Amino acid sequence: MPEDGLTSPNGAAAPDFIVRPRSAADLEACRPTAELVQRVDGYPGAAVADIVDFMSCPDAYAAWVAVAGPDIIGHAVLKPSAAPGVLELACQASGRGADAMAVVGRLWVAPDHRRRGVARSLLATAVAAAHEAGLWPLLDTVATNARSIALYESAGWVRLGTVDVTFSGGLRLLLVAFLGPMPPAAGEPVQEAAPGGDG
Ligand SMILES: CC(C)(COP(=O)(O)OP(=O)(O)OC[C@H]1O[C@@H](n2cnc3c(N)ncnc32)[C@H](O)[C@@H]1OP(=O)(O)O)[C@@H](O)C(=O)NCCC(=O)NCCS
Repeated sequence: MPEDGLTSPNGAAAPDFIVRPRSAADLEACRPTAELVQRVDGYPGAAVADIVDFMSCPDAYAAWVAVAGPDIIGHAVLKPSAAPGVLELACQASGRGADAMAVVGRLWVAPDHRRRGVARSLLATAVAAAHEAGLWPLLDTVATNARSIALYESAGWVRLGTVDVTFSGGLRLLLVAFLGPMPPAAGEPVQEAAPGGDG
């Protein structure tokens, strides 16, 4: 451990946050920041009435928080379900069945802690967990979310195309589907996006 606790042996600045599994108590503790993100960034949209309910994802394989000191500054889950059409697109591109896939979602970072690699760390943690379970990660984001698209592209995720989804209640969203890194044991290359996608 370096003397100042901030500098790694190779001289790079150590992150001032950690990523750890989410506890039950973390969910309510996240509420003010998650509500802030919803208000400021519009993620998730206003149709989501209870942000804690949205984040909880009872069917999630795993969930994590990023923590800086006493504060929860980021969140992500790994889950089996995606918006209609997204999982199908990823299965088509990967050549795998839905039960071999895992969806990264509920990803956000507190506005005051952005551009410090927090989302990149949460994403890498979710990818590692998916791979450990032999699953191939995928995700989606709304097509207007330039920051998240930049994040996924910078992390090497493959853009598959767009999916026009109408949710119950009539909310219509254009989503961009991404396929993450292939699990090490899968052994087959990611296929090209199908013609007609905007990938
Ligand atoms: C998208 C979001 C999660 C990114 O979080 P973050 O912690 O700031 O992202 P990181 O610091 O890990 O960024 C990693 C890379 O992503 C890209 N990126 C992230 N934010 C970006 C931005 N505002 N503009 C351009 N590129 C960006 C960059 O390549 C960045 O690397 P760099 O900083 O070395 O250039 C955050 O802006 C957020 O919470 N937005 C609101 C909620 C949301 O949209 N969630 C995603 C739902 S799909």
